[in-house]
Amino acid sequence: MAKALITGGAGFIGSHLAEGLLAKGWEVRVLDNFATGHRENIKHIINQIDLLEGDVTNLTTVRFATRNIDVIFHEAALPSVPRSVKNPLESNEVNITGTLNVLLAARDNNVKRVVYAASSSAYGDQPTLPKIETMAPDPLSPYAIGKYAGELYAQTFTRLYGLSTISLRYFNVFGPRQDPTTQYAGVIAKFIRFALQCQPFTIDGDGEQSRDFTYVENVVNVNLQAAEAKFEGSPVVNIAFGQRTTINQLAKTLNEITHQKLELVYGSPRAGDVRHSHADISRARQLLSYDPRIDLRQGLERTLEWYKSK
Ligand SMILES: NC(=O)c1ccc[n+]([C@@H]2O[C@H](COP(=O)([O-])OP(=O)(O)OC[C@H]3O[C@@H](n4cnc5c(N)ncnc54)[C@H](O)[C@@H]3O)[C@@H](O)[C@H]2O)c1
Repeated sequence: MAKALITGGAGFIGSHLAEGLLAKGWEVRVLDNFATGHRENIKHIINQIDLLEGDVTNLTTVRFATRNIDVIFHEAALPSVPRSVKNPLESNEVNITGTLNVLLAARDNNVKRVVYAASSSAYGDQPTLPKIETMAPDPLSPYAIGKYAGELYAQTFTRLYGLSTISLRYFNVFGPRQDPTTQYAGVIAKFIRFALQCQPFTIDGDGEQSRDFTYVENVVNVNLQAAEAKFEGSPVVNIAFGQRTTINQLAKTLNEITHQKLELVYGSPRAGDVRHSHADISRARQLLSYDPRIDLRQGLERTLEWYKSK
């Protein structure tokens, strides 16, 4: 039976990935320090996984976690632009040193592949849309720098040491278990909370900024493909739905789905935020047979149902 390590497996995406891997018959180990993840996220699978509570910034811990592992899904990070703007050193430590530790441990423990959770933030605010992997990166925040540095390290480990790696550049993933309670929460998690509490949607800036929102199940499926696909080198691959939605449209769609007319209230734009985000996903389709089935509306309906059930 193949064995996976998910760093950050108690997080939003990591916990869905754990479920997806278990369903496919993988053995799953999770390494998490619960910095932003929650025990609640893995409560229902706790008897099926091997949970290690520890920090990716500690190389000894990561070496221990990596023993007898076939594939690492490296999801652990402090995934917030504003938090990184506030505390760049902390962001650097977890997102860059943590990734380097994972790669070192993978190399030394003969791990077959590292699938790295990269980020669309690497593109920065380039006006050309859709964003395609051949564009030069232009990270605008410590978070974006960290996620991009992880890609470079992954590629370098492939070149220098022959470790198989792939970087999946996620674009605004959403779904159940995304934490709406922190000031760093993703916009969909926050907006769903507004919708359920019948509060106005508070929007950073004019709301005409756009994102390529991707339902988490699409992301899990492509990770499973990335673990076993055949490819050369250390590819960087966009993972998105391939469609652009403005924040204003998002609020309107949520009003439609919940049959409400909640107000849209505008504030000042966030530092380090990019204006538009929209992905070309042809490389993912070609290399990983990526086929995102769940669109924004379906994803929102499923996510709303989940939050209601809580
Ligand atoms: N959600 C998105 O839209 C999105 C977009 C682009 C990239 N990503 C990347 O995907 C990955 C998962 O993001 P998420 O949205 O599930 O966030 P999340 O915060 O829910 O998950 C991150 C997990 O990493 C853990 N973690 C943080 N620091 C750690 C440390 N030092 N040691 C061990 N574990 C640690 C957290 O406790 C958490 O469980 C991250 O690498 C993030 O950068 C996410």
